[in-house]
Amino acid sequence: MNQAPAPAAAAPRPWTRRHLLSLEGVCAAEMQRVFAEAERCLPLVMAPGRKFDDLAGHCVANIFFEDSTRTRNSFTRAAQLLSADVIQVSGEGSSTSKGETEIDTARNIEAMGVDALVVRHSSAGVPRNIADHVRCGVVNAGDGRHEHPTQGLLDIFTLQRHFGPDLAGRRIAIVGDIINSRVVRSNIFGLRTLGAQVIVAGPPALAPASLGALGVEVSHDLDAVLPLVDVVMMLRVQFERLAGQSIASTHEYRDGYALTERRTRLLPEHAVVMHPGPINRGLELDSEVADGPRSVILRQVTHGVAIRMAVLKLIIAG
Ligand code: NCD
Repeated sequence: MNQAPAPAAAAPRPWTRRHLLSLEGVCAAEMQRVFAEAERCLPLVMAPGRKFDDLAGHCVANIFFEDSTRTRNSFTRAAQLLSADVIQVSGEGSSTSKGETEIDTARNIEAMGVDALVVRHSSAGVPRNIADHVRCGVVNAGDGRHEHPTQGLLDIFTLQRHFGPDLAGRRIAIVGDIINSRVVRSNIFGLRTLGAQVIVAGPPALAPASLGALGVEVSHDLDAVLPLVDVVMMLRVQFERLAGQSIASTHEYRDGYALTERRTRLLPEHAVVMHPGPINRGLELDSEVADGPRSVILRQVTHGVAIRMAVLKLIIAG
């Protein structure tokens, strides 16, 4: 099994990034800086009634050219808990439907006096492109099949809070539609930087051996992988990215790769189940498991707000 290269233990260090576009290249100390900040923010998310005023007078714009429930609202809640104002821009209902480019949209929103743009797009690279054309900070909220850095951070934060801060040597299986997932790429970069081992598992068309180039083990035998891992992170079969054309039938997919109640019995006693959402219940993950005692799925959502508070604060106020 591939051993990740970098040591896990690292003290938090000052934040110097203007943007957060990927987890590739983000070092352990930078991640720990985010986690330390998120730890401070988490009590506000879990026991509402108070707000911080760290970003009072600042404005965050959510520019979502692609649909979202969790991520958009999580960034909104995060900004509000820091007392920032929030502007919402969607692909549909905005001037992109009249032919305006994404860069023009972003520059116009920035010109309204916005301090950070949170950008989601179905094409890889759009947040990077926008970042090259604006002066304010840009956070990638998911771009095509590329990355979803705040999802990676919230997943890792969830694991650190569950297993303790040192994830070195922990084994995480990421299962399903690997090739179409931006969540998996951010998790791979972040987890390996912290010394964890990642195994990706799925049918050959959705989890090709070439993924080994990312420093992960690739398996097509989920039943053989489950007894070895501390965590199993299920991914949605992304039909909108043509995953449906890569699986022979949903019946066959379930047979090989669904996390059913029966399959969870193959996991070690202490292992937990994750999913970034949205879940195709009854396809990649059964309700008994999603809502069962091993599931940390809703905890991921709560932690997501704290992580986004941390990221917005660091991007805007350093
Ligand atoms: C993911 C996304 O949009 O990348 N969801 C999320 O942000 N929580 C995963 C998915 O769509 O399957």
